[in-house]
Amino acid sequence: MATAMKENTAEAPTLTPIKYKENYGEFVGVGENGNLWVDGCDVAELVKEFGSPLFIISENQFRYTFRQFRDAFRKHYPGESEILFANKSNNGIAYRHIMNQEGAGGDCFGVNELYLSLLAGTDPSTLVLNGSNKQDEELEMAVANGLCINIDAMDELDRIDAVCKAQGKDANIGIRLKLDLDPLADREGVAMHGPGTLKEQSDSTKWGMSRAQTVEIVKRALEMPHIHLMETHFHLSRMSNEAMDFAIMAREMITWSGYIRDNTGWTPPCIDIGGGWTFGKWYGTGPRNQIDGDNAPTPDDYAKLCTQEIQAECEKLDLPLPKLRLEPGRSLSGPSGVAVGTVGAVKQGEKKKWVNLDLSTNHLSWSSALNWYYHPVPVVDAMAERTETVDLVGPLCNSDELGQHVEMPPLVRGDLVAFLDTGGYTEPCAARYNAQLLPATVLVRGDAAEVTSVREQQQDIVGRFRVPPRLLASSFANPKS
Ligand SMILES: Cc1ncc(COP(=O)(O)O)c(C=O)c1O
Repeated sequence: MATAMKENTAEAPTLTPIKYKENYGEFVGVGENGNLWVDGCDVAELVKEFGSPLFIISENQFRYTFRQFRDAFRKHYPGESEILFANKSNNGIAYRHIMNQEGAGGDCFGVNELYLSLLAGTDPSTLVLNGSNKQDEELEMAVANGLCINIDAMDELDRIDAVCKAQGKDANIGIRLKLDLDPLADREGVAMHGPGTLKEQSDSTKWGMSRAQTVEIVKRALEMPHIHLMETHFHLSRMSNEAMDFAIMAREMITWSGYIRDNTGWTPPCIDIGGGWTFGKWYGTGPRNQIDGDNAPTPDDYAKLCTQEIQAECEKLDLPLPKLRLEPGRSLSGPSGVAVGTVGAVKQGEKKKWVNLDLSTNHLSWSSALNWYYHPVPVVDAMAERTETVDLVGPLCNSDELGQHVEMPPLVRGDLVAFLDTGGYTEPCAARYNAQLLPATVLVRGDAAEVTSVREQQQDIVGRFRVPPRLLASSFANPKS
């Protein structure tokens, strides 16, 4: 098993949380002038400089949250633990560089996330490749660079073995499990994949190999000289914000380790317990404003309960403590981001008031999923009394609801509205409906702000379209003439 990537202490700065007039995070809050600030930057000034709509990421918040997870698991787990940032939640190259400096590994989906991680110089032994339908190109890139490939289909092992033979290389593999999760059969959670209990939700998804399939893969892999079995993998997803549900899931992974050992002789030296970790905000955020509120577990809660259950089950089954890997995504990237839009038309209806913004569900696609809630804050005079109930909407040709029935101070054309905790699954999930352009992203550290994604231009939309030559002139011709 490769050792965990070491943090680059020369590059990883000491972090001192900022005390704002009102804190929304350690590096996001209301500054002395009453405006919303990200670290040492006034958000209103950032919009003046970089335009609207705008994604802003606090580098220090991102690092800080990562360290909370890393330190909690280091504190509670006597074995080795490693945090693999789920790149999908913010796959910009700058963010990968930051995670590299912190010593984080990464979870990659698809050839391009894999390529981006390698391009950022991530130690491949700290990267895993996940996916239910991996393409040849992905497997070839993963084998060539020595990543751990988490198998999620019966024919994947032979495909990897063939790549190994073609490249004259060995491959590291894991197996994504379809845990039984019987102890979660009566636990209802947030329907990320639902509806249904946590067990039903997990059972109903495409992911993971059954016990019998896992045993078959292990037995066959043990016979293959180029293949090295490294880990088992599972991802509960954000179905719940009960730390105990995650701890039970982690325990189940050890139960499966015992089963695999008893049936194959191989004991997984590492378990990767995936992502789905929530984060608590006093103002609430997340699906239906339910799971990332005050009651969300802290990294310490998760670490304490998960490691307790893992250790107890290992003892019970006489198994060595495995290395522990986690793949948090949104819990690390989410709180680091703020998305800002500018108010345009304000419309008073008979029963409702709509405040249009230039930000849309193209940019915050989760706003329309699962009644997702992002806490909106006026950028100027951020703590002004919220005297009106309005719908914050975008300009797209759908209802484009960014926030329904939210309380805000009176807003007029030109005002700025920020949505908090938008650092995860925004830019990577952004769409271009209505040929809308993608915003720029700026990375803030202290009082410095630098562009990490360039604002799209009209040419980016037009440039990828092609017109077959036969249509070029004919659309102007009168078909009857
Ligand atoms: C395999 C795997 N790991 C990690 C994650 C990250 O999940 P989250 O961002 O909820 O922590 C995902 C999300 O889809 C995933 O599929």
